[in-house]
Amino acid sequence: MQALPAPSADHPQTMILYNGGMWTAQTATDCRRLRRALTGTVAFVPTMGALHEGHASLMRHAASLADHVLVSIFVNPTQFGPHEDFAKYPRKLPEDLALCEQAGVAGVFAPTVDAMYPPDTPECIVEVPALAADLEGALRPGHFRGVCRVVAKLFNIVQPEAACFGQKDYQQWKVIQAMTADLLLPIRIVGCPTCRAPDGLALSSRNAYLSPEARGRAVALYRALESARHLVADLGETDPAVVEAAMRQVLESHQFTVDYAVVRHPQTLARLDCLEPALTGGVVALIAARTAGVRLIDNLLIGAD
Ligand code: PAJ
Repeated sequence: MQALPAPSADHPQTMILYNGGMWTAQTATDCRRLRRALTGTVAFVPTMGALHEGHASLMRHAASLADHVLVSIFVNPTQFGPHEDFAKYPRKLPEDLALCEQAGVAGVFAPTVDAMYPPDTPECIVEVPALAADLEGALRPGHFRGVCRVVAKLFNIVQPEAACFGQKDYQQWKVIQAMTADLLLPIRIVGCPTCRAPDGLALSSRNAYLSPEARGRAVALYRALESARHLVADLGETDPAVVEAAMRQVLESHQFTVDYAVVRHPQTLARLDCLEPALTGGVVALIAARTAGVRLIDNLLIGAD
């Protein structure tokens, strides 16, 4: 790694060295300087912070893909709806930086909202309607528009060779893959397996909102996905309605309100008349469900081998 210029009068203390080993940049300019100072390839892990083992597993995967790992920590306001949890989303920067440092990350980009969205700049829309209109996109209008906009900005600033996304947010992963392909960005988008708690609950920053009682019932999401897997992979069920009813039954019996519990094509997320995983390269079961004011999502790829 080349020497980075010391903070100047133009950028007083905007780039700081954390714990002797990891850089933290707060502005796009400093993040670009950091990227340029890193010789070799970079794998990038964009996050909204409140980091957990799922994020750490992405960082480890990223380390296997490139010479350096860069992480961004930014709670992106444009992907939250007006009545969603932007204000109360957990923010834990000191703990997050420690986790990144432990994971061997070379640098963290942790910008302010104004740094990512310069005031008085007209909005640019980045959208993948074919993949983003349904499921999360239908229930959270504007969500993927906000995700694409911020990820396009982050890719443009960080200029990584590869970027890691969790399969936990399956539709987001597919939307970003499509955006990157259509914008001809020279970035390899890598989907990483979902990290789960021992009972199967997918790790999520939003799990922190669950009361102990609701946390106990939240195993329902994984059980519902497992019931879908059993029906399709073990019993050869081909009717999506049967599989979707089974998932819904598990969720509702654990006092979850179902936003959707569906089985779709693993690449296009299109509805399927008949489940034939051998022909479609697997099928993906996707769930969004709410309990006690907390909304959780999860999914499982079935029969992809
Ligand atoms: P965030 O929810 O912080 O997630 C950051 C990345 O971690 C995403 O790619 C997500 O899929 C992945 N991830 C979350 N939980 C995981 C788990 N249990 N196992 C494996 N990976 C997991 O997703 C976002 O932030 C934002 O939308 C972002 C892409 C950063 C744009 O703002």
